[in-house]
Amino acid sequence: MARRELLLALLCGLIAASAQLATAGAGARKMVGVYELRKGDFSVKVTNFGARVMSIVFPDSKGNLADVVLGMDTIAEYVNDASYFGPITGRIAQRVARGRFVLDGKVYHMYKNDGNNTIHGGGRGFSKSIWTVKEYVGGGDSPYITFYYRSFDGEEGLPGNVDAYVTYRMSGPYTLGVHMNGTALDKATPVNFLLHAYWNLGGHGSGDVLGHTLRLHASRHAVLDEELLPSSGRIEPVAGTPLDFRTPVAIGARIRRVTSGKVIGYDTNYIIDGEGMRPVAHARDGASGRALELWANQPTMQLYTGNYLNHIKGKDGKVYEKHGGFCLETMGYVDAVNHPEFPSQTLRPGQVYKHDMVFKFSF
Ligand SMILES: *[C@@H]1O[C@H](CO)[C@@H](O)[C@H](O)[C@H]1NC(C)=O
Ligand SMILES: *[C@@H]1O[C@H](CO)[C@@H](O)[C@H](O)[C@H]1NC(C)=O
Repeated sequence: MARRELLLALLCGLIAASAQLATAGAGARKMVGVYELRKGDFSVKVTNFGARVMSIVFPDSKGNLADVVLGMDTIAEYVNDASYFGPITGRIAQRVARGRFVLDGKVYHMYKNDGNNTIHGGGRGFSKSIWTVKEYVGGGDSPYITFYYRSFDGEEGLPGNVDAYVTYRMSGPYTLGVHMNGTALDKATPVNFLLHAYWNLGGHGSGDVLGHTLRLHASRHAVLDEELLPSSGRIEPVAGTPLDFRTPVAIGARIRRVTSGKVIGYDTNYIIDGEGMRPVAHARDGASGRALELWANQPTMQLYTGNYLNHIKGKDGKVYEKHGGFCLETMGYVDAVNHPEFPSQTLRPGQVYKHDMVFKFSF
């Protein structure tokens, strides 16, 4: 523990130092900085610390702007973030049972940062790594930024070098595309990335999201056990359960009947109906009229309703409490490395993983 704290302290100092020096200019590629994409009254702030989304601002029907993602004011505060506010997680997102798996007859061990298991890549993972800004166009017709990270052989116990890219692009009016890819360079390795943004369409810090209505294009879910692992491998229909969001329902309507792990709330792995780029989720806050529609090309989506948020100091002096935001984490199957019955996430050298998401905001 002491070593870990020292490491964090060192990293913190490094980030504080480089944040002062960072500019959005071409000379500051490996430093930590904040970058804005803007198209009229639609704006997005991201940082290369974890390829994170820091804010997304758009109006309601009366023109009132709100920032609809939870986060922190400064990069330094993200160093100790244990809730994964807005990053890309990887190399293996979500949980790996016992932090262990076998690939091609060899056993791999990862750092256990979630009880006996590994979550979101392990100790540091992609979410606390400094990415390189490859390209950045903040304004114009199609503002975008591309982050690059070379995940090295042995990082978090995983085999082989992997090239990872994430592009955030405003591809249309109030539309944000998130395009991730990963390439195994020299060894076979599992790859599964996800975006861990917490949404609150009433504005971050405006209270809980239980009144938001949600629709999911998912008729099945992977049954998760007390440790939120799909240990049985069972895939079951949502019909007739409080997990069924095939017609729009308030997030809070049945939440008291849902226990995930040991707490009340959704931490549910949905199998998304269909294949390829397709609608996944639609969420709407009745009070403000703000809505989002998510399309993605991934097989599953973890719905997480901020069950563990507990008095966390966020941006603008706001405090985040239980159910203060929800995550729509499109991805591969949870713990696929330990479940041959699930679609494989192993890339052989030269193979490419592609994960596309498109958020369409409206009001
Ligand atoms: C970890 O595994 C041990 C042995 O199986 C068990 O006793 C313990 O409760 C587990 N810890 C957690 C946090 O689940
Ligand atoms: C991954 O994305 C980056 C940035 O968009 C792009 O330059 C690169 O060609 C992509 N890699 C592959 C293998 O598609």
